Amino acid sequence: MCGIVGYLGSKNALAPVIDGLQALEYRGYDSAGVAFIDGGAHLVKRVGRVDALAKAVKAEAKTKPHLAIGHTRWATHGAPTIINAHPHINQDGTIFVVHNGIIENFAEIKTKLEQLGYQFVSDTDTEVIPQLIDYHYKKLKSFDKAFEQALTELRGAYAIAMVTSEEPENLYAARLSSPLVLGVGKGEFILASDPTAIMEHTKKVVYLNDYEMVKITSKNYSIRNIQHSKKVRRVAETLDFDVEQVKLGDYPNFMLKEIYEAPQTIRMATLGRIRPESAIVKLGGLANVELKLGSVERILIVACGTSYYAGLVGEYLIEEIAGIPVEVQLASEFKYRDEPLEPNTAVLAISQSGETADTIAALQKVEGSGMLRLGVVNAVGSTIARMTDAGVYCHAGPEQAVASTKAFIAQVTVLHLLALKLSKGRTKLFKPLLKDLDELPKKAELVLAQAKNIERLAKKYSRFEDFLFIGRRLSYPLSLEGALKLKEIAYIHAEGYAAGEMKHGPLAMIDKQFGTLVIATDGPTLEKTYSNIQEIKARGGLVVAIATKGNRRIAKLADDVIYVPKSLEQTQTLLAVIVLQLFAYYAALKLGKNVDRPRNLAKSVTVE
Ligand code: F6R
Repeated sequence: MCGIVGYLGSKNALAPVIDGLQALEYRGYDSAGVAFIDGGAHLVKRVGRVDALAKAVKAEAKTKPHLAIGHTRWATHGAPTIINAHPHINQDGTIFVVHNGIIENFAEIKTKLEQLGYQFVSDTDTEVIPQLIDYHYKKLKSFDKAFEQALTELRGAYAIAMVTSEEPENLYAARLSSPLVLGVGKGEFILASDPTAIMEHTKKVVYLNDYEMVKITSKNYSIRNIQHSKKVRRVAETLDFDVEQVKLGDYPNFMLKEIYEAPQTIRMATLGRIRPESAIVKLGGLANVELKLGSVERILIVACGTSYYAGLVGEYLIEEIAGIPVEVQLASEFKYRDEPLEPNTAVLAISQSGETADTIAALQKVEGSGMLRLGVVNAVGSTIARMTDAGVYCHAGPEQAVASTKAFIAQVTVLHLLALKLSKGRTKLFKPLLKDLDELPKKAELVLAQAKNIERLAKKYSRFEDFLFIGRRLSYPLSLEGALKLKEIAYIHAEGYAAGEMKHGPLAMIDKQFGTLVIATDGPTLEKTYSNIQEIKARGGLVVAIATKGNRRIAKLADDVIYVPKSLEQTQTLLAVIVLQLFAYYAALKLGKNVDRPRNLAKSVTVE
C-alpha cells in the first residue's frame, strides 16, 4: 500500500527518494510523485510506474536539491490520476504533503476550510492536510506549531511527511497507526514507510510511535509526542537486515525467488531455537512472559489472508500438540465483534508485515483487558512486533512479491515451535517433530526439484475458469491457501473447501469444466480423501493430487499426482504448500499475469 520516502542531507536528495520509491514498489501503487525544494519548490507527479516519474523528475531538476519527499499512491479516495497523486499542496503552493492512511474526518475539515475560502482540486482526503497546516501557519507563524496543531485535528490513520518552500532546511513527519521509520545516516536522514527504502544508506533507524511527530534538520532530529505535548528521546537502533535479500539475483521475479527460499526459510525459523538431540525448544522472544504463558488457558489467533490460514494450521498444531484450545478469527471481523474477553486467553497476532491495519486494530481492541498479547511477525521492529508483550520473529527476511509465500512457511514453522513450547514436553510428538523439522529443509529442496513437473501440470490445469482445492485436517487450511494463491496471482476463480464438505454442496458444481486439486498427503483421514476423489471422478471432474511419496494407490484414482517426501502429517503442510505456491505461480505465468504485482492488490495493507 502507499509508500513514503523523504530525504534531507548532504547528497542530491532525488536519488535516494526515487530509489526509495522503487524499493517500496512491491507494496503496490498506481501513481507516484515527488516534491523537492532547491531555490524554489518543484512538484512532479505521474500515473503509473516510478520509472516514468524518475524520467520526469530528471527533466525537471536543474540543481541538486538536498530536501525532497516522494510517494507511491494506492488509490483509496479518488481515481489514480495526476491530480489525486501525492504530494498534495496548499493553495499557495508552499506546503507539500505525502500521506499514507485515511483521514476519517476529512469531509468535516474540508467543509470548514471551504467556508474560510480554501479551494480544493483533488478527490483525496490528503489534500486537507496541507491546507489545514496552511490555515494554522497563517495564525501561528510557526511550522512546528502549525504542523502539530493540524495533527491534533486529524482523525483516522496517517504517516505524513511534509516540506515547505518557506523552510528549505527542515523535513517534518508524523505517524498514527501507519508505519514510518527514520534512517539516521552520516550527514543525512531518510524517512520511509519501511526499512527496505533505507537500508542501502544506513542501518541506524528510529521507529516512530503513534502520536509522534519529528522535525528533522540538517544536523539533528527531535521527536515530540503530540498527545502528551512533550519531547521524546529516542536513539537510533541497528537494523538486522541483509541488503542482498532484497535483490532479485538470477531470478525472473520475487515470487519465484521467495518460493525457492523455502528451505532456507525453515532453517532460519528454527535456527538456534531447536535442539533435536536434547529435545529442546528455545524461544527467546517469549522469555519475559514465560510465567504468564504457563497460565494461559485459551489462545485466540487474529490475522488476515495468508497469515490467517497459517493461523488455522496453527490451531491444529497447538490444540493437538499442546492441548490448549485455540480459536482463529479474521482480524477484520474480530475488531467489530462483541465477545467476552477473558484475561486467561492469550491473543496471538500473526503478520508478515507487522503493519496490517486490521490486525493492529484487533490488538488494540484487547488493550487493557489483561490478556497477554503475542506476535508471530516477520518484519523486525514493525508496529505489531512493538505493540505485543512478547513474540517470535519469523526471520524469513523481506518478502517483496505481493503474494505471501515464504512468510507462510516461516509462520507455520514458528507455530510448530510454539506448539511444542506450550506442550512443555508433554507430547509424544516432541522428539519426532523436532527431528522432522531439522530434516525438513532438505525435503523442501526435493519438492523444489520437481518444479518442471509442477509447471507442466499448472499449464494443463490453467485452462479451467473455476477451481477447487480440498483437504482434510491440516490440509484443509492449506486448501484455502492454495485457492487464495491461484485467485490472487492467476485471477482464476478458486475455492478452498474441507473435503468432508463436498457432499454438503460443492459436489453440485463438479463436471468436466471443473478442476480440483486434492491435498491427499499421508494422515489419519487419507482413506476418506480417496472417497472424495472418487466422487469427483464419477462426475467427470479432473483431479490433480498432492500425495506422499510411496503412495501407489493415488495414481489409480487421480488424473495427475505430485509427490512430496515422507514426513510427519504436521510438517507435510510445509512441503505441500510449496507445491501449491508453484502451481499458482506457473498457472499465472502461463496466463501472462504479473506474478509479483497482481492487479488491485497491495503488499502491506495499512488501511482497513
Ligand atoms: C496473500 C497475502 C495477504 C496477506 C494479508 C496479511 O498472499 O499476502 O493475504 O497475508 O494481507 O498480511 P500480513 O501478514 O502482512 O499481516
